[in-house]
Amino acid sequence: QTLELELESIEKGGYPHFMLKEIFEQPRSIMDSMRGRLVAENTQLTMSSIREYENRFKNAQRIIIVACGTSWHAGLVAEYMIEELARIPVEVEYASEFRYRNPIITEGDIVIAISQSGETADTLAALELAKSKGALIFGVCNVVGSSIARATDAGAYTHAGPEIGVASTKAFTAQVTVLTLIAMMLAEKRGTIEKSALHQLMMEMEQVPAKVEKALQLDKEIQAIAEIFKDSSNFIYLGRGLNFPVALEGALKLKEISYIHAEGYPAAEMKHGPIALIDENMPVVVIATKDNSYEKVVSNIQEVRARKGRVIAIVTEGDTVIPEMAEFVIEVPETHEVLVPLLSVIPLQLLSYHIAVMRGCNVDQPRNLAKSVTVE
Ligand code: G6P
Repeated sequence: QTLELELESIEKGGYPHFMLKEIFEQPRSIMDSMRGRLVAENTQLTMSSIREYENRFKNAQRIIIVACGTSWHAGLVAEYMIEELARIPVEVEYASEFRYRNPIITEGDIVIAISQSGETADTLAALELAKSKGALIFGVCNVVGSSIARATDAGAYTHAGPEIGVASTKAFTAQVTVLTLIAMMLAEKRGTIEKSALHQLMMEMEQVPAKVEKALQLDKEIQAIAEIFKDSSNFIYLGRGLNFPVALEGALKLKEISYIHAEGYPAAEMKHGPIALIDENMPVVVIATKDNSYEKVVSNIQEVRARKGRVIAIVTEGDTVIPEMAEFVIEVPETHEVLVPLLSVIPLQLLSYHIAVMRGCNVDQPRNLAKSVTVE
């Protein structure tokens, strides 16, 4: 028993929980996901599995992404990126819904299955179904040799290393990293991006690990905010565009480990429901980084303030407008618009972590949840 405990504390590498260790590993794990695949200096992208099926990817009519949980959120980020950069229509499906509704799949389709564990029963069944209809199946898995990785035609591992905490953190950013590289490669092959723009994006991508490192330095600041809101019974998370899936992910992290009810919403949809919940007790986390929906998000913040909601805003470093209106402001480094989720998710992971710890929850093994769900 003592030996087991000692082993566990060695495995945690000095951190009190696996989740915190994994959050802090992200500069490294993101780098590992890019290693050998991206050389920005000479605008070079390599992913042998994409090269192998180059024509199928080039001529894809449609990409369908199937996944569950956090992996589904990574899929939503990919939808924005692939459509924006490579101009291929993308649909993102909950694997459990997709498999039971007689979906329309053709041989021109590419199905991307995203799964950290590579063992999620619904995701596996969804890809088997799509395979039987002739689609090309591409896997984005973390666990090498897992069932999903073996069932696919081709794939790219995320190389995030083992993730022990039930709430997914570094696996998510690794998935987003790999999917970003895929979006860039497809854009390059389909000629939907200018070489200079691609080069610029790749240079920014190389800077991401260092910027994540910087975002992690916000830890103490976020801990102080957690202290203020730890007893709240509800939270709303808002974001637009690429930050909408980040809002969903932030809300999921909080409910998974702290058992606080939290909802993620596209900021503009707030007025169609959630706005009715806002009063002086409601913390509203707004992801308001500088991108093309910035102005709109600023007005969403004003709407929340007008109803006395307590705004915690995630902003781009140097923002001078939002600090005037939000009660709390957390600054993340500036980056290319497409890469923002990799930075904006970091403070949300830390916020949920600290709140859960303060509430005495079992952070690494939350009640009722499993790391991999091998039953439907
Ligand atoms: C479980 C885990 C989540 C994970 C989801 C999908 O619910 O607790 O963290 O996002 O399954 O798992 P997968 O291994 O397919 O990514």
